[in-house]
Amino acid sequence: MLILGARGFLGSRLVRYYQDKYEIITPGHNQVDITDRASLEACLQRHRPDLVICTAAVSDTGRCQQDPQTSYQINVTGSVNVAAVSGKLGIRCVLCSSDQVYNGSQNLRPHKQEVREGESDVALTQQNSMYPRPHKETEALVPLTVYGCQKLEMERQALRANGDAVILRLPWMYSVEHDFENQHGDFMTGFLKQAREAAVSDNADDRQNEANQVETIGNQREEAGRKDGEQGRSPAEVVLTYAARDYRAVTNVREIVENMEAVAALPGGVYNYGSFSDCSFYDTMAQVMDALHDRSLLLNVRVQKDEQHLDDHPRNLCMDLTNIETHGIRFTPTVPALAEAICRAINLMERID
Ligand SMILES: NC(=O)c1ccc[n+]([C@@H]2O[C@H](COP(=O)([O-])OP(=O)(O)OC[C@H]3O[C@@H](n4cnc5c(N)ncnc54)[C@H](OP(=O)(O)O)[C@@H]3O)[C@@H](O)[C@H]2O)c1
Repeated sequence: MLILGARGFLGSRLVRYYQDKYEIITPGHNQVDITDRASLEACLQRHRPDLVICTAAVSDTGRCQQDPQTSYQINVTGSVNVAAVSGKLGIRCVLCSSDQVYNGSQNLRPHKQEVREGESDVALTQQNSMYPRPHKETEALVPLTVYGCQKLEMERQALRANGDAVILRLPWMYSVEHDFENQHGDFMTGFLKQAREAAVSDNADDRQNEANQVETIGNQREEAGRKDGEQGRSPAEVVLTYAARDYRAVTNVREIVENMEAVAALPGGVYNYGSFSDCSFYDTMAQVMDALHDRSLLLNVRVQKDEQHLDDHPRNLCMDLTNIETHGIRFTPTVPALAEAICRAINLMERID
């Protein structure tokens, strides 16, 4: 198994998980630049792996937006090189795309119970209560961002270069483990930071000078309110705000990694690949928080809706997973998987503390 991008978020976890089972080859970026087809071909000729997994990319959507030429070279030309050279040498290859190819295609409809006789879907989509139609791989797409456009372009060119290439549309990934080098942050990193601050504020002795704080982390807003009662201090309540118009799944990278063996046996093509969700990120986090409270965790944290974020252009990245499931690949749905992962991460954090 040869992994390109092996020091990255996904690549490093693939290496750790499969290193005792397979011979893993991990040429670093400084050894093989995927934009250099000749050096890529020489590397694959030399090692002749059974499988190439390319996780190498500019994965930061902001960087793609700022410097589209550079990201095109890596996210399109580089990945297409991997597909073409693998095809030429008869090596199976897996490439990473993204659910961001669906960004720009809203596919929303009113919530079932909200549809009243005589009202059209169109009229109701103006209202607050909507739910997303999960996207299928076969839909016509017009991505909104540079990153999404480049991933879609990569899919098309890669399949033209190598019809046996397997291309995975990955959702936003999070990890419970963070003891890797050279990693970027993920949802869990941000969430744990907030949870840790909640725990610290709960135990703080001196709250005299603490005023209300508002901090923005990604598209989540944290508002920490302090309540000092006359008889003593009640625990600080922490309110986390999540977008009510952002419909998307998040997936534990562990499941992405574990299913990769089955991916290697898939017929060439594009696959939605990750946990299922058909609700907004606010609804996801409200359900996750209920599950945590049931386990007496983060009792001073509650979630609230951000109604403004994406108000005029809701984002629906939810994916229909029927196709991958017909091949026997299954993921835990977003809510139970995330609740379980947060519990494990909190346990881990307490052991470290
Ligand atoms: N992370 C997510 O939540 C997410 C969600 C959806 C899709 N994806 C996609 O999944 C894949 C893996 O994402 P990730 O988060 O693991 O990415 P990552 O952490 O940013 O890692 C990317 C790796 O690619 C390497 N690289 C960059 N340019 C290269 C080049 N020209 N030649 C060879 N190696 C190069 C980087 O090495 P250096 O650091 O040495 O440059 C880095 O190790 C990407 O295709 C990403 O777009 C990720």
